[in-house]
This record gives sequence, C-alpha cells and structure tokens, in this order.
Amino acid sequence: QAVKLRSRRPWPRAGAGSRIVARAGGYKVAILGAAGGIGQPLSLLIKMSPLVSALHLYDIADVEGVTADLGHCNTPAKVAGFTGQEELAGCLAGADVVVIPAGVPRKPGMTRDDLFGINAGIVKELVEAVADHAPGALIHIISNPVNSTVPIAAELLKQKGVYDPRKLFGVTTLDVVRANTFVAEKKNLPLADVDVPVVGGHAGATILPLLSKARPKTSFTDEEVEELTARIQNAGTEVVEAKAGGGSATLSMAYAAARFIEASLRGLDGDGDVYECSYVPSQAVPELPFFASRVKLGRDGVEEVVAAELRGLTDFEARALEALKPQLKASIDKGVAYAQQQP
Ligand code: NAD
Ligand code: LMR
Repeated sequence: QAVKLRSRRPWPRAGAGSRIVARAGGYKVAILGAAGGIGQPLSLLIKMSPLVSALHLYDIADVEGVTADLGHCNTPAKVAGFTGQEELAGCLAGADVVVIPAGVPRKPGMTRDDLFGINAGIVKELVEAVADHAPGALIHIISNPVNSTVPIAAELLKQKGVYDPRKLFGVTTLDVVRANTFVAEKKNLPLADVDVPVVGGHAGATILPLLSKARPKTSFTDEEVEELTARIQNAGTEVVEAKAGGGSATLSMAYAAARFIEASLRGLDGDGDVYECSYVPSQAVPELPFFASRVKLGRDGVEEVVAAELRGLTDFEARALEALKPQLKASIDKGVAYAQQQP
C-alpha cells in the first residue's frame, strides 16, 4: 500500500488557515507529571493547541503554581490542576489523550534502563489509574525506559481488561525530530522538508534511523551514515552530559511530545492523512511484540503500522536491525515480567 511520506505541519500552528475543524467542545488532554522539566513546557504548548478545550495537569508536587500561571494565557483550553492520588480520578475522567512524562530523568553515566527501578512503579500507578478512570483514552508514555515502560503498561491494561493495542504509544518523536535536524544540517537541506523515519526502540542501538528512506531522497556516504546514526542514537546522552547532572532533554522533548499529541488529535478528529513514528504494539518484526515504526493515526488510535518501510533496507540498516533485536527483546521481557509479578 502506498504511504504518504510528506512532512507534517510544524508545531505549533495557531489554527489560522488550518483545514482541521475541531469537534464541538474540542478534546481533553491530561498530562501526568505536568510540573516537571518536560511537563511544564509541554503543558504550555498544549495550552496553545486549537484542538484542545480542556487541559488537566497532574503532579505529586508544585502543580498549583503551574496551573495558575498557565491559566492566564488567553487561549481557549481551560486548565485545571490536580495533585495527590485522590485527585487522579478527577484529572483523568473524560480524557481523550493521557500523556505520561512522570518519572526521574538520567544523570551522566546512567543508561535509561537504570531508571527502571523508580519509573516502573510510577508508570504502574498512573497506568492503572488510566485503566480505571479513562479506559478509552490514547496513552502516550514518555517516561523512560520507554522500551520497558510501554510493555509494562500493556500488561497492566490487559490485567484490568481494558487493553486496546491501538491506543498505547511510546513517544519516540524526539528521535525523528533529532534525525530531521541533524540530516538537514549535514546535507544543507531546508529543515521543514526533511522527514527521516526512526524505527526500533528508544535507547542506544535500538534507535534506528532509516536514512535510506529519508525524504527528500538524499544520498549519504558510508561515513555520513555511520556518523549520523551514531549522533541520533546518542543524542539523549549528548543532552544529559551537557546538562551535567541537571537532567535530560526537556524542551526538545516537550516540542516533540506536542507534535505527537497534535498528530494524535488530528487523527481522532478525522484527518485521514496523519503519520508519525511511535513505539507501539506491533507485528512488524515477529520476535518483537513492541517496535517503533511509522504508524497511521486515526479515530481509534493506530489505524495501520507501516511495516512496508522495513523492507528494502540497506545492508547497514539490515545489520543494525538484526543487532538491536536482542537488546530490545530483553527490555520488553523485563517490562512484561515486572508487570506480571505485580499483585
Ligand atoms: P523531572 O524530574 O523534571 O519531572 C518529572 C515530574 O514527574 C516531576 O514533576 C515529578 O514530581 C513528577 N512525578 C514523579 N512521580 C510522580 C507520580 N507518581 N505521579 C505524578 N507525577 C510524578 O523529569 P523530566 O525531565 O520531565 O523527565 C521525565 C521522564 O521523561 C524521565 O523518565 C525521562 O527519562 C523521560 N524522557 C523521555 C524522553 C523520550 O524521548 N521518551 C525524552 C526525555 C525524557
Ligand atoms: C532522550 O532521548 O533525550 C530521553 O530518552 C532522555 C534521556 O535519558 O536521554
């Protein structure tokens, strides 16, 4: 099946001239971890979305100030703040999209998997609440290690009897945003035109940019492919080291998450031409039940996983895909095992 690969609209767009008409009342977006490094700028970007009528902010700390502050922006979305587990139900009720950036970030020297011990429990608590109070919502998981937190969420949703694989997403948009930026810089291309699919997972070698599928069609030397692939794979670490103990990517992540939320809302709204890469339940690679690839977003979440893009890889890409499988499988299994051990 032919897949449209033209680049998407840049974020944010204030709505003027957009061919998208929001359904009456717009959409409700809940952000869990809204007072954090990602949560705050993400909340601001979502407050600016013409598709959103209600923005619910939840955090275990400091959410009142963020809510009061954002509430003064004269954009239509109504902002409400919620804190403490007893307010989670109210935050989630009626949400169309629930975004989870709650959790601890890396410090230099750490891998994303080093965050598993703390973040698995946070994701468990929040996903169980989503299952109870917003079972039909799209769930966007940002908390690392994404390669494991998404399988954890899937298992917990199954246990609660509300699992819909079309509605669960690991947010890998930042990998695409980085790939587009680095390729445009390297090849001197107009940034808005560049679109590089990034597949696999969201940690180190599991992040696989498919440079051979980049648009506009571009030729790369072997050295360029190696250099760009390594930079895209290590970009998160690049930021962690630059922040020197102050956390990981927050602003670029908020930008990327806002782009993915906007794409999801356009899908829900009936735009028939919305494609983004995301780490989703998938059969694209048989031995990996979760895999990032380009997906078509529609009224019920994922309408199609674009597996065709995994065909016709270069030797470099095919080798990298084989090489990432054991690491990604181990992260998936770790998440599934964690969730299955929960009482
Ligand atoms: P942060 O520490 O600045 O913010 C995290 C927020 O989560 C804090 O406000 C904290 O109070 C809140 N929180 C903690 N436990 C909570 C709970 N049980 N319920 C609700 N809120 C809770 O961290 P950050 O920089 O915003 O990063 C958040 C997560 O996102 C990290 O795990 C990081 O690794 C991940 N991340 C993922 C990507 C990606 O591409 N998917 C990119 C960047 C960061
Ligand atoms: C990123 O890619 O920036 C995030 O996953 C955060 C990190 O720990 O690198």
